[in-house]
Amino acid sequence: MEIKNKHVMITGANRGIGLAFAEACAGEKAHLLLAIRKNDLQLVKDLKAKGAASVTILEADLATREGVTALAKKMENHEIDLLFNNAGQLTGGLIETQSLDDIYKMFQVNVNALVHLSHAVIPQMLKRKRGKIINHASVSAVMHFPCASTYAASKAAVWAFTDCIQQELKGTGVTTLCLFTPGIKTRMFDEIDRLYTKNIDIVEDSIPPEEYAKKILNAVKNDLVYLEPAGSTGMAFKVAQHFKGVFNWGISQKFKR
Ligand SMILES: NC(=O)c1ccc[n+]([C@@H]2O[C@H](COP(=O)([O-])OP(=O)(O)OC[C@H]3O[C@@H](n4cnc5c(N)ncnc54)[C@H](OP(=O)(O)O)[C@@H]3O)[C@@H](O)[C@H]2O)c1
Repeated sequence: MEIKNKHVMITGANRGIGLAFAEACAGEKAHLLLAIRKNDLQLVKDLKAKGAASVTILEADLATREGVTALAKKMENHEIDLLFNNAGQLTGGLIETQSLDDIYKMFQVNVNALVHLSHAVIPQMLKRKRGKIINHASVSAVMHFPCASTYAASKAAVWAFTDCIQQELKGTGVTTLCLFTPGIKTRMFDEIDRLYTKNIDIVEDSIPPEEYAKKILNAVKNDLVYLEPAGSTGMAFKVAQHFKGVFNWGISQKFKR
């Protein structure tokens, strides 16, 4: 799918990977619909200066069903060619140390909101016989580490959901892209470091969000169904997918309670 002049909606577009992708789409002269928690006039100005054909803010808190319902209602007034379900939260640490309130909120944002917004946009895309939904999973959907239990469960759900609708949508003109994102240098990546490394010795490389946004854009243009990690993380990802016993043994060597 080409991006020029398309209407692109991004959740969590105020920082991190969402912002980098918004900037990349602005460079392609897209119309941007940004679902963010707080209106931000400077962000609108910056993205217009980077080339966006238009920028519209849809204020939304995805942490409640009411917040997502209100956003879905606003989406009825907009033609959306590309929906990027990007907003996400991280929970982590040994399971008994994780806050249940945080876990409920994280599943609401990472899974329920993503399913709800996909459910909201698919009918209008089917009517026009075109459109794409990008769902933000993670390498954690496949590579299961101690300390990542709840977050990994949310991202495995994103993968399963996206895989199922991809099959349902075959031949309709509506397509999906599931991102198996590796370490990207954002605020969330710093959190991963803080929450995991007390118990597990994983030194993950991270790439700048701008670089990753280019890879996402390329995957959109080439209509890829999955965006998988490259390099050494890519190899570990393949081992986790096809040789689970080997992967789990390797991880167990790096973990201590
Ligand atoms: N960074 C990585 O290494 C990595 C790896 C794999 C997957 N991912 C995935 O990439 C996506 C983006 O993460 P990031 O790395 O860019 O992290 P980030 O910088 O922490 O950004 C998270 C985004 O989600 C938004 N968000 C969180 N809770 C929300 C809520 N209740 N309502 C609306 N928006 C909410 C945040 O908005 P506020 O500013 O309002 O909080 C922010 O825009 C996430 O789905 C994450 O799971 C990241």
